[in-house]
Amino acid sequence: MSEYSANLSPSAATGRPRAAKAVIPAAGLATRFLPATKAVPKELLPVVDRPVLQYIVEEATQAGITDVLLITGRGKTAMVDHFDRRPDLEERLAEKPELLAAVKRTEELADIHTRRQPEQLGLGHAVGYAESHVGDEPFAVLLGDEFVKPSEPLLPAMLELQARTGGVVLAFFEVDPAETKRYGIASVEPAEAELTDIGEVVRVTGMVEKPKPEEAPSNLAVLGRYVLPGRIFDAIRRTEPGSGGEIQLTDAMELLRGEGVPVHAIVYRGTRYDTGMPLGYLQTVVQIAAERDDLGTEFRKWLVEFVNSDASGGPNT
Ligand code: G1P
Repeated sequence: MSEYSANLSPSAATGRPRAAKAVIPAAGLATRFLPATKAVPKELLPVVDRPVLQYIVEEATQAGITDVLLITGRGKTAMVDHFDRRPDLEERLAEKPELLAAVKRTEELADIHTRRQPEQLGLGHAVGYAESHVGDEPFAVLLGDEFVKPSEPLLPAMLELQARTGGVVLAFFEVDPAETKRYGIASVEPAEAELTDIGEVVRVTGMVEKPKPEEAPSNLAVLGRYVLPGRIFDAIRRTEPGSGGEIQLTDAMELLRGEGVPVHAIVYRGTRYDTGMPLGYLQTVVQIAAERDDLGTEFRKWLVEFVNSDASGGPNT
């Protein structure tokens, strides 16, 4: 039997293991949020009362992955502290069981490991630092500034698909054609696969990092979730600097694809939150706040009043 399988139907399950580790590249400088991110990593900016990074780790654990490697850089150790124990704080919260549970939850969520990326030479370069932790096994990559709605999970279907193909599994979302230069963009063909709950499965026929709109092969953008075979590390080593002079993960995956490794993707139809830019971050905070059981009703009421008020420059002005 070939190392990879073309048949994607569940009955073709090969008995390959599902990826059991997640890697979160989080070493970037976050210049878009300066000066807020001078001392605070952007991954720790709060969305209501939890940092972005916690939503991402929760997305991994919800999919059954509890071994999480953070790729960190200088000035980012507070990210690890967030998942560490705080006995002094716990003692003070003895009379406040809800807060105590929230604090303990961060400690018990996952096994957090770290690896430093000494220089920020690109996403591919960052993922390369996971090799000693991950080894030869398939693994998931979750970018540190985006996450999906927990009730519309994406990762479980990606993990299943990767266990079936043995190749690379991505997720795409549709972008405005003018926006292609912010993302990895792919050309695709229909896959002989079934629909997943959360989107159609396609086979990738090419990928390019941050193309100009006139050079983009489609408007399908790579979402920050990947399930990769261990072979990606060798491909990263062989990848030359690309877009922005950086070693791009997209280019390393394209190298593998050219060598016959199957690359599939799920065109995600759910809700993606992008906290990597101020506008997306604000939209994320508003959406999550509006849906919260504890403060959503009051917040939505205020939001409607605010949007319609003079103070917002809204419809009445
Ligand atoms: C990275 C990837 C890109 C992907 C994007 C998703 O870009 O390189 O292919 O589409 O994440 O958010 P970055 O946002 O790091 O520039």
